[in-house]
Amino acid sequence: MDVYARVCLVFMLCGLFKEGQSDSCIGRCGQDLKTTFICQCDYNCTRYNDCCNDFNAICSSATCSGRCGQSHDTTKPCQCNEPCVTYGDCCSDYQSLCSDTTIVDALSAVMEDLWNSDTNRLRESDYTINTTGSRLFAYVNQAALKKPTFERLIRLLDNYNKMVGEAEQSTASELAEVEDFLNTILATPVMTKTFTFLINNGHITNSTSVFRDTLMELWFNFYPRSRSGPSDSCGFEHIMVGELKKTSTVSGFHSWIQFYLEESNGNLILENIIIKTEPNMIATSFSWHGNKKSKSAFFLGTSPEFDMAVYSICSLVRCDSLCKFTLQNHTVSIQTWDIAHKSGYQIGSAYLSI
Ligand SMILES: *[C@@H]1O[C@H](CO)[C@@H](O)[C@H](O)[C@H]1NC(C)=O
Ligand SMILES: *[C@@H]1O[C@H](CO)[C@@H](O)[C@H](O)[C@H]1NC(C)=O
Ligand SMILES: *[C@@H]1O[C@H](CO)[C@@H](O)[C@H](O)[C@H]1NC(C)=O
Ligand SMILES: *[C@@H]1O[C@H](CO)[C@@H](O)[C@H](O)[C@H]1NC(C)=O
Repeated sequence: MDVYARVCLVFMLCGLFKEGQSDSCIGRCGQDLKTTFICQCDYNCTRYNDCCNDFNAICSSATCSGRCGQSHDTTKPCQCNEPCVTYGDCCSDYQSLCSDTTIVDALSAVMEDLWNSDTNRLRESDYTINTTGSRLFAYVNQAALKKPTFERLIRLLDNYNKMVGEAEQSTASELAEVEDFLNTILATPVMTKTFTFLINNGHITNSTSVFRDTLMELWFNFYPRSRSGPSDSCGFEHIMVGELKKTSTVSGFHSWIQFYLEESNGNLILENIIIKTEPNMIATSFSWHGNKKSKSAFFLGTSPEFDMAVYSICSLVRCDSLCKFTLQNHTVSIQTWDIAHKSGYQIGSAYLSI
């Protein structure tokens, strides 16, 4: 039911059932919508503007402590993510606990920590960018790409059907590759620190299996990219591999490793470097299998676990919004998109906004 339908329905029913129905939330917090009642106490009522007058007093005891940035949770009486401002269903301590400054400081601290822990990141001497030529990568140290997390990421890159609109399927060996990749990145300091940050900020419980399941759900569960289409996509495919649309354009594609490999294979032709900025950020335009990408931004030289960690944290903490922080004294903004607000977190996209 959309907002209007619900408001209209409640309005009509108000007229019909004026007498004898509870106008209080006492004993009714979180109960399903009861259209025979003149006001509501379900946790969507603030959104639909049909709460009983005492809803806040009786039902909104919940707090944003440890919940800043979490996705809409219908089991909770109030919400702690940015859309709650629009929908008017924020917990009363949302501003004080989840204010921009508090979150930016927390994000900046963890991102700096991840950067400093990213021992697998290529050193300056491991790769060369050509800012004047027709190829982006003039040199990449091949030994760097043989590090365990790189090697396992690269194995995943041919597991997907790049066409948007064509269903994805995984073979048993492809699923085993995903498991192997997750196990390998989970053992890195970058992912250990990500785990701790997400626990301390209430996004996951203190359980390695929950962390693993969360990454699996964020990145590898297939979902439909259009409302009526087949399950043709997942966060990993979109960000790390890239997708092709029927309109001959490229969707996603935010991994420097995939860029380098596809450029080396002759599948990708650089058009322009749009901007190159610090730390290690670049945006380019290119064609891939003959399809255009007008702007694709990514980190250069970072490890797969760093990219996955940064995009995962931003997706959880700043769902469907701009995730801003400072890194190496530079401002970084990452745009995140949830996919169609399905239950559970799944990354529709996440990319550098430069
Ligand atoms: C709240 O609304 C969402 C959709 O907007 C719906 O999926 C959910 O079931 C509703 N929850 C309650 C408690 O009414
Ligand atoms: C960059 O590309 C130009 C044009 O292709 C070429 O002349 C130059 O040698 C390249 N530089 C490096 C560092 O590879
Ligand atoms: C998680 O639990 C382990 C073992 O119970 C404990 O050592 C660790 O400090 C906990 N981590 C956090 C962030 O709470
Ligand atoms: C950031 O700026 C501060 C103050 O100018 C400086 O001390 C510090 O070394 C800088 N850090 C980095 C990583 O550049």
